[in-house]
Amino acid sequence: MKKLIYTFFTIALLAIGIGVLYVFFINPSATSTTHKSIKKANSVPTKKKVTTNKETTPAVDTNILLVNKDHPLGANYIPQNLVVPKVKFISTGDPNVREMNSTAAAALENMFAAAKQDGFTLLAVSGYRSYKYQTQVYNAKVRKDGKASASEYVAIPGESEHQTGLAMDLLSTEYTELDDGFAKTKSYGWLEANCAKYGFIIRYLKGKENITKYNFEPWHVRYVGVTAAETIMEKGITLEEYLGKTN
Ligand code: DAL
Ligand code: ZN
Repeated sequence: MKKLIYTFFTIALLAIGIGVLYVFFINPSATSTTHKSIKKANSVPTKKKVTTNKETTPAVDTNILLVNKDHPLGANYIPQNLVVPKVKFISTGDPNVREMNSTAAAALENMFAAAKQDGFTLLAVSGYRSYKYQTQVYNAKVRKDGKASASEYVAIPGESEHQTGLAMDLLSTEYTELDDGFAKTKSYGWLEANCAKYGFIIRYLKGKENITKYNFEPWHVRYVGVTAAETIMEKGITLEEYLGKTN
């Protein structure tokens, strides 16, 4: 009987021993993450993977000013460094709304020059609009088309990107009406393909009206800087989506 118990324990111990050997040495993939990480830490370092800028997602620049129906500026906001960009303006435009923030203005000048090189004469229409000026624009639109229609195209005072000095409405000699027809022109094709290189985005996209809360405006560009603009235009998203501030 004693011999039997002795044999039984010997077999049991052997079985446990084989089990341990299998788990830790023969089949390491079955081991815990702790064991895996030890293995990793002890392994010979391989050549570091080189990550290019394309592979890394650039950090979202949260300094980008978001102005929309949910993020108003208020009546007292007046941007710094307003200058008149040295670009061609549409002859029928109001000379009182030509200014832009100086950084955006310089970028606009570069973009207009590049378009010209490629055979397109862009025309600036409307840049910085003060709270007071936007009140006039909005009231005129309401008188013309009624409140519901006006709110699809014109921001109520305090909610307009034009008050930031970072937006510009623009057309081209090819098409001089502020309407959807501009989107069918070659100039618009150029703008859509190239504006991001200069830090601009098409702000109110077709199909994104539920996010921007405005109709498609192919003529309205907004300066956000090259990094953000390239991501936004490449992905075909809105500034709200880029900043993670959709409602
Ligand atoms: N047209 C744009 C939405 C504005 O009035 O600011
Ligand atoms: Zn505009």
